[in-house]
Amino acid sequence: MKREIGMESAELLYENWPGQFDSFSHMEFACAIPQVLFLISTRKENGQPNLCFHSWSSFGGDAGGYFAVMQNVAHLSHTYQNIVREGEFCINFVSADYYPNCIATITGNSNESNEFEEGHFTVEPARTVKAPRVKESFMTLECQLACNVDLSRKGINSMIIGRVLHAAIEQKYIEGVDKRYGKQGFMFNIHEPADYATGQLDDTHLASLEVLGSYVEYKNKPFAE
Ligand SMILES: Cc1cc2nc3c(=O)[nH]c(=O)nc-3n(C[C@H](O)[C@H](O)[C@H](O)COP(=O)(O)O)c2cc1C
Repeated sequence: MKREIGMESAELLYENWPGQFDSFSHMEFACAIPQVLFLISTRKENGQPNLCFHSWSSFGGDAGGYFAVMQNVAHLSHTYQNIVREGEFCINFVSADYYPNCIATITGNSNESNEFEEGHFTVEPARTVKAPRVKESFMTLECQLACNVDLSRKGINSMIIGRVLHAAIEQKYIEGVDKRYGKQGFMFNIHEPADYATGQLDDTHLASLEVLGSYVEYKNKPFAE
């Protein structure tokens, strides 16, 4: 049996805080699709380096370029304003060990604050953009703003697409055993998945990837019924 969930069925769930289903579609919690987490680095207008802990994204491209699509960048954030003003940013992937550091960049988020210092991160110069890179990141993508669209037309978030100009990847992650897919690699956000028995939203959880096997091993397995 399948639970059919329409766009109108937000009332079946309880918000964890008032206005939660205005800031997020209730589908976010119904579907609870894991999202890779990263830090967007930019500079504030006063020159201070800025960080934004971010989920909701996808990555892809073709011969014409490789693109980072970030569906929800809040208009009220420094990051949105910095990206619109400067036209560039970096995407920095850090492991789950840095989760407390990432959260500290949210709590120490004033106009005057150096958010790298707040999170105990180190500024590293980028090769192709003026935005700073996070030295502790195992992979950084340097990006130029390619597209800015308010998908919901509510003036809350924009989908920002960055054209990736350059990547810096920690050598020990991509030589021999690939370390990107495990506890030291990409971290994922499981955002308050809904329990439809009670209507409650669970806590947010962190996850990493478990590699199941190669394409060749899997394509030769018996069909699932
Ligand atoms: C796990 C997690 C994921 C987040 N993902 C996003 C996101 O995808 N988009 C967004 O605009 N804010 C997101 N935030 C909130 C921002 O990190 C937060 O508003 C931050 O303070 C913005 O920083 P800034 O004002 O320096 O840009 C997330 C927060 C957490 C804890």
